[in-house]
Amino acid sequence: MKYLSLYMLVLGTTILVGCESGPESSKGFSLPKGDVSNGKTVFLKYECLSCHKLKGIEQPDIMDNPELSVRLGGTSTVVKTYADLVTSIINPSHKIARGYPHSMVQIDGVSKMKVYNDVMTVTELVDVVTFLQPYYELVPHSKTDYRYYKYE
Ligand code: HEC
Repeated sequence: MKYLSLYMLVLGTTILVGCESGPESSKGFSLPKGDVSNGKTVFLKYECLSCHKLKGIEQPDIMDNPELSVRLGGTSTVVKTYADLVTSIINPSHKIARGYPHSMVQIDGVSKMKVYNDVMTVTELVDVVTFLQPYYELVPHSKTDYRYYKYE
């Protein structure tokens, strides 16, 4: 029995560590520092509010998609970490937001969200993520401490 629990512990740890550091893991993922106010400009520029609601932000002069309204921020079923937030913008179909009628948010497993990958610059992506991040209750993201990388 004693050996069995030890075996389970070793096995469990191996599985956990394996997921954390395997080639497919998000470990090591870190975007550069973004600019919140530029992020808001990006958010308005791409008219994200035509399909979304974000607390305190209005953009009356855009075409609002009447049958599509997905709330951004707060607690989300798919956006739990910083990496999830980035992923939900560059790969919207990866995990489709839950709590909405299927026909509202997806067609055959493909998100109705517009894909911006060929028009949005990486700087714009970093900034819009920096702008949106405080609206979400995310699992804290440990930012890279660049002091360790500096050569004195
Ligand atoms: C044409 C409509 C449309 C536009 C425009 C759009 N989205 Fe979306 N977005 C969606 C839909 C539908 C979902 C829910 C399905 C999914 O998870 O992909 C979604 C989901 C998201 C999510 C995850 C939601 C959550 O909290 O669970 C984020 C973040 C997001 N969008 C950001 C953006 C940003 C930033 C822009 C502008 C650059 C944008 N979206 C523009 C339709 C749109």
